[in-house]
Amino acid sequence: MLTTLIYKSQLNPSCQSLSLISLVEKARQRNSALDVTGILLFNGADFLQILEGPEEVLEKLFCKIRSDKRHHSVVELMRDYGPRRRFENVGMLLFDLLVDSQKSVLSSVLRYSKLDYYLAAQDRVFKFIQSFITREQPTRDGAVFLPERWKLAPEHAPFGKCINGPIDNQVCQFALQPIIEPTEGKISSLEALIRGNDGGSPERFFSAIDQDKMYEVDLQTKAYAFALAEKIGIGDHKIAVNLLPMSLVNVPGAVDFLMDQILIHGLQPEQVVIEVTENEMISGFNQFNSAIKQLRAAGIGLAIDDFGSGYAGLSLLTRFQPDKLKIDREIVSDIHLSGPKQAIVKSIISCCTDLEIALVAEGIEKIEEWCWLESAGIKRFQGFLFSRPKLNGVGEIHWPQFSSAPFLSD
Ligand SMILES: Cc1cc2nc3c(=O)[nH]c(=O)nc-3n(C[C@H](O)[C@H](O)[C@H](O)COP(=O)(O)O)c2cc1C
Repeated sequence: MLTTLIYKSQLNPSCQSLSLISLVEKARQRNSALDVTGILLFNGADFLQILEGPEEVLEKLFCKIRSDKRHHSVVELMRDYGPRRRFENVGMLLFDLLVDSQKSVLSSVLRYSKLDYYLAAQDRVFKFIQSFITREQPTRDGAVFLPERWKLAPEHAPFGKCINGPIDNQVCQFALQPIIEPTEGKISSLEALIRGNDGGSPERFFSAIDQDKMYEVDLQTKAYAFALAEKIGIGDHKIAVNLLPMSLVNVPGAVDFLMDQILIHGLQPEQVVIEVTENEMISGFNQFNSAIKQLRAAGIGLAIDDFGSGYAGLSLLTRFQPDKLKIDREIVSDIHLSGPKQAIVKSIISCCTDLEIALVAEGIEKIEEWCWLESAGIKRFQGFLFSRPKLNGVGEIHWPQFSSAPFLSD
């Protein structure tokens, strides 16, 4: 299928001897043989390339280009299908803004295209080209947060030892996972993740419970999370627990129960954050709203979990503003490679900045994901990269350490 792929990237600063002319010459021959057109724009620091050709061929070629050390921060912006090519099958063309003016580059690109000016003005591909050409400043993204400048150093978490097995006659256990602020070297909070007494997943634990007892059990288990926090001595750190929003509505006196348990276990309400998921909130929002008010009045914090994975997305924030918003792991995964994901996260950051809502990126597994998100302005992170959930305690935390010279990979 005829495919159009657009990506942007940055010239590798350590690449002194880049000869664009020879790169283009070789690429032109290869592309012609593969029935691919590669329009390459360069502004002295950044590249924008439009590749047109058969889908499987482009996929393989893009894999090679992405790992080419002559550039870095390769981000896919668009992948689309169409009935005809926008450009003649010219193999490869370079448009260098260091050599030619914006105006002449724009008209040359148009000359090689099959679209007339009017159609090009409405075309998404040409809009990418136009904004690249007319952009004032080349990007200097991630100068500090380059993945090769960071390595992770493990450290024991400043809490008591893990306890053995479930406390007393509890029906479940909890694994704790820190949410950290890497550049401050600070633990922001601990999330308590429910596990069965055999260590099994939350899904397995809840599937064994009668449906009509679900909300009661859900609420009751929070007491065990607070008990664990007390046992391992979380001091003045915060503890976050997940709660089905309808547990607050369906179990009489739910907020009072939570408050009692918080105080019994030597915690302050301000140390506790209740995490609810976006999807669950939407289904029973009106009833849930009154329970939220009670939690707020008691001083307990509220976070929206898995933000972006449901249907309401940003519009949810018009009705309810939590203290904290956790961006769903699906959006965060491989964000350094995806233009659409980056655009979405930038809009979430801007929205939360205006509303003074703290943001957490969860599910971080790669240093590249953290580097992109940190340079975009996110400060709090949770994920296997930094620390795995640990049953009945807190595991080692792997803190990023900076070096002005790139670390050599092991
Ligand atoms: C910005 C940039 C654009 C590139 N565009 C192409 C291209 O359109 N076609 C191509 O064959 N190689 C292109 N290359 C070179 C490839 O990354 C790679 O060197 C080439 O496909 C040869 O790979 P191989 O030696 O593994 O076969 C480009 C490299 C860079 C840095």
